[in-house]
Amino acid sequence: MATSLVIFGASGDLTRRKLVPALFSLHRKKRLPDDLNIVGFARRPYDEARFRELMRDGIKEFAEDHYADAAWKDFETKLHYVQGDLGTKEDFGTLDARLSELERGASDRLYYFSIAPRFYESTIDLLGSCGMARENGGYRRVIIEKPFGTDLGTARGLNAAVHGVFDESQIYRIDHYLGKETSQNILFSRFANTVFEPLWNRNYIDHVQITVAESVDVGHRAGFYDGTGVLRDMFQNHLLQIMTLVAMEAPSSFNADAVRNEKTKVLAAVRTAGPERLAHDTVRGQYRGYADAEGVASGSETPTFAALKLQIDNWRWQGVPFYLRSGKALAEKVSEILIQFREPPHMMFPLPPGATIRNNYLAICVQPNEGMHLRFEAKVPDTLAELRSVDMEFHYDENFDGIAIPEAYERLLLDGLQGDASLFARSDGIELSWKIIDPILEGWTTPDAPRLEVYERGSWGPKGADALLGGDGRSWMRGCGKH
Ligand code: BG6
Repeated sequence: MATSLVIFGASGDLTRRKLVPALFSLHRKKRLPDDLNIVGFARRPYDEARFRELMRDGIKEFAEDHYADAAWKDFETKLHYVQGDLGTKEDFGTLDARLSELERGASDRLYYFSIAPRFYESTIDLLGSCGMARENGGYRRVIIEKPFGTDLGTARGLNAAVHGVFDESQIYRIDHYLGKETSQNILFSRFANTVFEPLWNRNYIDHVQITVAESVDVGHRAGFYDGTGVLRDMFQNHLLQIMTLVAMEAPSSFNADAVRNEKTKVLAAVRTAGPERLAHDTVRGQYRGYADAEGVASGSETPTFAALKLQIDNWRWQGVPFYLRSGKALAEKVSEILIQFREPPHMMFPLPPGATIRNNYLAICVQPNEGMHLRFEAKVPDTLAELRSVDMEFHYDENFDGIAIPEAYERLLLDGLQGDASLFARSDGIELSWKIIDPILEGWTTPDAPRLEVYERGSWGPKGADALLGGDGRSWMRGCGKH
């Protein structure tokens, strides 16, 4: 049976940069279904040859290492293009006719929304009214890019619209952080081993830090970004999803619903920020010069940086703060999770005067230098009782020599084609994430809000971010640097 992957918004950046390079890599690994059509749909007046050429140039530009002429010649025969408008029913008819022609009978279809969110609902409606969501012996699925809504109300509205046409089991809401190899490995580290899990709770963990820092500024996306800000762009999805992987209980199986049930429970247990806590537990910043960029409203208060202190109200995590920070134009591009353990209950060693006890930590290096570092104290040789912090390190490039870490989109596209939704967000998870973010967004418009702090480009964000931890006697740490 034929499979069609339809990319709505095929002329956009994501298609050239990520989707088609990922599909090409899957093709080279022989993981794609045998009879696959990849059909781009967009307004631009390309013919098939031009579309193929553009996609090839995209691979050469963004995934050069993967490119090979012979493989491309084979792959490009799968690529097709239909010109059309997302708001025009007749164009959906044309698309459907072209798909039927390629499929020759019953088929599986995966629709990928790589389009502006304002078109999500109308596209869903047209898929429904044109009969394109009806299964005909094969599946019909839809992958929806982030952002999924801009607050709880719009996310609920969008869920209702999608559920009007597709069943939840047919819906794949993408969060590309979940497709990253190192994010996937969080559950494997925790639940395919016994060394970590007995310590993974309030008895041994002091606090958790999650950093997703970017060195780039908002660049040409300023127009979009100004209406979005860092909480909607990074926290509602990527940071909260990573937090659930760190905090969730062990599911009984590695099945999409079992995994997502546990993640949902974490989100439901996050304490929502009351107005009285906002100034204490949240920090918002904007890099210097942001407000002067083209596309940004003058005097814009859109935060490009945020730091939050969140509490999870359950037995495992009571009293263990989760500090989350993310921002643009920071010193480095790095994503890492730092699990800071408690101090030893009693120090029996006669430490040299002035020496302090350093807590152990486990750092999960999401990107770059993918791996894990476990920091602990060791006795310095030839001293009586001098301690030094040392690291045990695991790095993908050393331990899995010759196996390149795939792009997140490879895993996610393959899972979409194969029907595995474990790495995708479910409707209840999305709505619960907005329930955490909405009160902060709302609170930031009131007099209780922490002030918007300007920070220097290339720094680690505003001073308030340091004070957020400093007030608790802690500080941000980097656990993943090369030592
Ligand atoms: C996207 C955000 O979801 O993630 C971008 O919209 C951000 O603003 C990007 O730059 C970061 O992804 P990665 O994989 O480069 O860390």
